[in-house]
Amino acid sequence: MTTSSAISADAGDLPSQFDETIASDQRIEPRDWMPEGYRKTLIRQIAQHAHSEIIGMQPEGNWLTRAPSLRRKAILMAKVQDEAGHGLYLYSAAETLGAGRADLTERLIEGRQKYSSIFNYPTLTYADVGTIGWLVDGAAICNQVPLCRSSFGPYARAMIRVCKEESFHQRQGYELLTTMMRGTSEQREMVQESVNRWWWPALMMFGPPDDKSPNTEQSMAWGIKRHTNDELRQRFVDMSVPQAAALGVTFPDPDLVWNADRGHYDFGDPDWSEFMAVVKGNGAMNVERVERRRAAHENGTWVRDAAAAFAARGQEEQR
Ligand SMILES: [Fe+2]
Ligand SMILES: [Fe+2]
Repeated sequence: MTTSSAISADAGDLPSQFDETIASDQRIEPRDWMPEGYRKTLIRQIAQHAHSEIIGMQPEGNWLTRAPSLRRKAILMAKVQDEAGHGLYLYSAAETLGAGRADLTERLIEGRQKYSSIFNYPTLTYADVGTIGWLVDGAAICNQVPLCRSSFGPYARAMIRVCKEESFHQRQGYELLTTMMRGTSEQREMVQESVNRWWWPALMMFGPPDDKSPNTEQSMAWGIKRHTNDELRQRFVDMSVPQAAALGVTFPDPDLVWNADRGHYDFGDPDWSEFMAVVKGNGAMNVERVERRRAAHENGTWVRDAAAAFAARGQEEQR
């Protein structure tokens, strides 16, 4: 914490205190002085992350009413509710930077702020529930574990709890797929078909290649980001290949091969034109996801009004 010293210091010292905090790997807290660019970058990143958690409830929520057993339904319901909780922690973290939740929600439903493009792909079979847990939550873990050491305190602390829950999500997905792989040949085909559809979009979750990622350098200098997109993508590939082998599925990439010199797997390039098309709003589900979010927000107006009226009455009674 640099808050108390920041208050007594000359305004001119504040930027150097910020730099020192970053250089010594300490946390910046909401009341500390911070450069406007740092605040803006964090708001953009945290808001995008919060929106992804909330929109990410939809693809799997799609299967809640058609889960194949009560056990699977209970697991999936818990998982989807966890994602709602992640969204709320993150909106709270954004609020400490002065970004109101109502405003961020407006920006999302007006298409002015983004969420992860992975959620603009449809969930066509129940195997997709398993594949999303394994690969999509798995990629999210690779992205988010380093964020537990992010330089902004509230974001880093939120990530610790989120990551614990994400690893449960990944395991439940992998366990579901393992069960299906022990089933009929139709079930095994369903798993492979699902993995074929999700593998490339999962690799795109790490964002564009480093040489086309303009914000990475500054975000790393500020300690907001700890690894580049390509480093994290490589980590994810290296982690996933043995898991696929244990499961008995393959990834749809003829260039995927162990490189003994590098000590990593080589792999092919995702189709970045597809990525850009989905980011720009032309994925299969972009319109539906945002429309559904808008409808849920509008349907919830009476709840927010009632909660505000209740809080106001409580305050009046205390007077
Ligand atoms: Fe999550
Ligand atoms: Fe998750």
